[in-house]
Amino acid sequence: MAKSRPSKRASSKSISRPRAKSRSNAAPAGGKAAVSRNRQPAQLRVALLGFGTVGKSVAKILCQESDSPLLLTHIFNRDVRRKKTASLPKRIRWTERIEDVLASDVDVIVELIGGLDPAGDWVRRALRAGKSVVTANKLLISECGPELVDLARSAGVRLEFGASVAGGIPAIIGIQEGLAGDKLYRIAGILNGTCNYILTRMEAIGSSFQAALKEAQELGFAEADPSADVDGIDARAKLVILAQAGLGLRVRAEQILARPITTIASVDFMYARDLDCTIRQISLAERVVSPETPNRVRLAGAVQPALLPSDSLMAHAQGSQNIVTAFGEYSGRTVFSGYGAGGDPTAVAVVSDLYAIARSTGAPPGALPKPAQVPDEITGDFTVPHYLRFVVKDRPGIVAALATILAKYGISIDALLQKPGFPHSALSFVMTLESCDSAELNRALAEIAQLDFHVEPPLCLPIFSE
Ligand SMILES: NC(=O)c1ccc[n+]([C@@H]2O[C@H](COP(=O)([O-])OP(=O)(O)OC[C@H]3O[C@@H](n4cnc5c(N)ncnc54)[C@H](OP(=O)(O)O)[C@@H]3O)[C@@H](O)[C@H]2O)c1
Repeated sequence: MAKSRPSKRASSKSISRPRAKSRSNAAPAGGKAAVSRNRQPAQLRVALLGFGTVGKSVAKILCQESDSPLLLTHIFNRDVRRKKTASLPKRIRWTERIEDVLASDVDVIVELIGGLDPAGDWVRRALRAGKSVVTANKLLISECGPELVDLARSAGVRLEFGASVAGGIPAIIGIQEGLAGDKLYRIAGILNGTCNYILTRMEAIGSSFQAALKEAQELGFAEADPSADVDGIDARAKLVILAQAGLGLRVRAEQILARPITTIASVDFMYARDLDCTIRQISLAERVVSPETPNRVRLAGAVQPALLPSDSLMAHAQGSQNIVTAFGEYSGRTVFSGYGAGGDPTAVAVVSDLYAIARSTGAPPGALPKPAQVPDEITGDFTVPHYLRFVVKDRPGIVAALATILAKYGISIDALLQKPGFPHSALSFVMTLESCDSAELNRALAEIAQLDFHVEPPLCLPIFSE
């Protein structure tokens, strides 16, 4: 989507996957087998931190199989008496003291507390204590992922976070394991189910943003305070994790452009339909190396509402569905899609990470990917066609004034669209632009904003081809 060609020199595309401690796959020492009579020789001992929505589902799945290689031994939660349930095996130790878990002989700690503190501290202590960690915590991984991966690597254990992006969709594990043989250069997706629900409702029934948000809140698809979702903050944290895991690039969330979907009106879907397009919140990260500067790696990344062709795969993601699309130099496009949240789907991703640890112990050190690389430049600019929607006090010469400024910046108009029926006091019309650099367009729009006929600020959306 960015103009420069994707890197042909992509190095490690995958976040580090340090080797699990070999003892977890080896037959336990004599004394260890005595710890639990139920433990089978190759079982991984697992402790859960957090017995909430996801924690309960993980415990249920772990305790269903009698011949599982995973043995749940500890559950930690504050005020744990409220949480105890007779439906889980009696051997499980319930505790509200984190030291009981950290000092135990568990092999893997599953962190399902959420947030940065104290969860981050407990994850660090677990890794330092030689325990692998599985987490669904996107906030922690997007903020501290590379640091924690380095810590896991130096401790000789593993850190897995497949559930931190797109819940039950195996996007991270698919990218890190299934596409390990490729060099990925672009990851695009619909990473926030709340935004996708709102936008697909606006599209389906022609409702306003506020009406669709209210409906999403009533159905439990949106929080009472939806700002992290609709402002793109939640999706941006997931994009940071995908850029680390898939593109091997280490960025901080605040370095990535996030634009809200609150500016989208139902009329935009009417114009989009005339262009054979629809509107979705698109998260996009691209590793770019220009032929002129082959040693510089640029990350082009943003979370923003964008137009997409109606027949594109991402346009077909309905309601609260998520979709992650990975583009590789050798495999082309690979798509992961489905429902990204909820206790049971997210627990599947957590348990799959546990299986991955159980299966891959003893991997040779050479199989471990290199640490993620800090890009030389991070930009939110893409060279693509754009959609501009204006609401103006009608008078002669408006289009000429806009065209003059756009021409000054070398930007060509592709088409003009105007629906009938708007009042002259607030006339809405749309301009589509031929492919242009969004940084240059922003300079033109700053000048256009000074013109005195606007009733509301112009809306600018990129038009992506997929
Ligand atoms: N739910 C989803 O659909 C979903 C999807 C993808 C990822 N995730 C991630 O999964 C993680 C867990 O989410 P969740 O929905 O299961 O959250 P949750 O229902 O709020 O569960 C969190 C659990 O941790 C406990 N807890 C919180 N702070 C604690 C503390 N300081 N000490 C001890 N226990 C503490 C809570 O106890 P109390 O009951 O006392 O509050 C609760 O049982 C989060 O990182 C979330 O982002 C969730």
